[in-house]
Amino acid sequence: MGVPFEALLPFGIIIGCFGAGGYGLMAVKNWTNEGKRARWNRDVWDRVMMERDMRLTGTARGQSCNHEAPPGFELSNPWKLEKRIF
Ligand SMILES: *[C@@H]1O[C@H](CO)[C@@H](O)[C@H](O)[C@H]1NC(C)=O
Repeated sequence: MGVPFEALLPFGIIIGCFGAGGYGLMAVKNWTNEGKRARWNRDVWDRVMMERDMRLTGTARGQSCNHEAPPGFELSNPWKLEKRIF
């Protein structure tokens, strides 16, 4: 009696598609977070600090412990002309 391996092919396709999607999402998340853990539960203070870090380092997840701000930091601060919901 033969093994009905044909019946297992759809399961392989399903597992492969879910695996590709999951690994793809994981890779995109890792890429957008520059290899760091994803941020969660961000409040307005966190978003303001993220914007400052972006202006300091030039990358979304970069952080800096330099004592002096890089040149041009004082010029990259946009005046908030309207109230923004972050
Ligand atoms: C995430 O990216 C970093 C480099 O940015 C890399 O070293 C690490 O292996 C990656 N992790 C995964 C799970 O892809």
